Amino acid sequence: MSKRNKLQRFADLLSFPNVYENNDGRSAMLAGAFGAEKELAGKWNEGHFQKEAPLILELGCGYGEYSVALARLFPDKNIIGIDCKGSRLWKGASIGLEENLKNLAFLRTRIEMISFFFGKNEVSEIWITFPDPFLENYRINRRLTSPAFLEKYREMLKPDGIIHLKTDESTLYQYSLDILSKEKDAKVIIANDDIYAAELPNPLLTTKTRYENKFLGEGKAIKYIQFTL
Ligand SMILES: C[S@@+](CC[C@H](N)C(=O)[O-])C[C@H]1O[C@@H](n2cnc3c(N)ncnc32)[C@H](O)[C@@H]1O
Repeated sequence: MSKRNKLQRFADLLSFPNVYENNDGRSAMLAGAFGAEKELAGKWNEGHFQKEAPLILELGCGYGEYSVALARLFPDKNIIGIDCKGSRLWKGASIGLEENLKNLAFLRTRIEMISFFFGKNEVSEIWITFPDPFLENYRINRRLTSPAFLEKYREMLKPDGIIHLKTDESTLYQYSLDILSKEKDAKVIIANDDIYAAELPNPLLTTKTRYENKFLGEGKAIKYIQFTL
């Protein structure tokens, strides 16, 4: 994407009523449309969506394909796509506005800071779609299924709240299963190392993100873990 296009997207985001942002890493305050400040932790349903509904997050949503698909499929659930790259989530946010998807919002921030923005037991479900695998050992703690991240998810999830991980990376898949086997109270519901080899357990899994299409094009098997904490 050209620098000009990126700058245009950043400018657009400032006026989008379905996008919030926080990059300071020190507070729960979010900047909404035209910089209006809002604190939404524990009150996304009334404070933004104005509708009581189960809250679903997509972490590292990129262009937001899963978030958009979830919002279209489940009008009675509220969906938030989260990514640090504004030029990417612009795409999902634009579709949300074009299609008037009132149950879809986006948050531009780093996932490391997520505890600032959601209250205890506020979230019903989390999708982690093709996260960066951080294969080098020195970056292992940046994996979105590393123990420190799981601890953050546990805090914000409702009891029995479900987490879905989709990845093309065998190392991340196996690492996640190993970590979950050591996590007290974690329960793996589904672990499938090639979801398209047989009929899918959940038709929603056929939704393909930009990265998933790329990996499928490279002949990679798509892996899926569904678990609770
Ligand atoms: C490999 S891409 C996958 C994007 C999308 N889920 C897909 O499947 O097409 C990983 C995404 O995670 C985002 N990301 C990685 N680490 C992050 C972090 N710590 N906080 C926020 N976003 C992050 C990147 O900006 C990128 O968009």
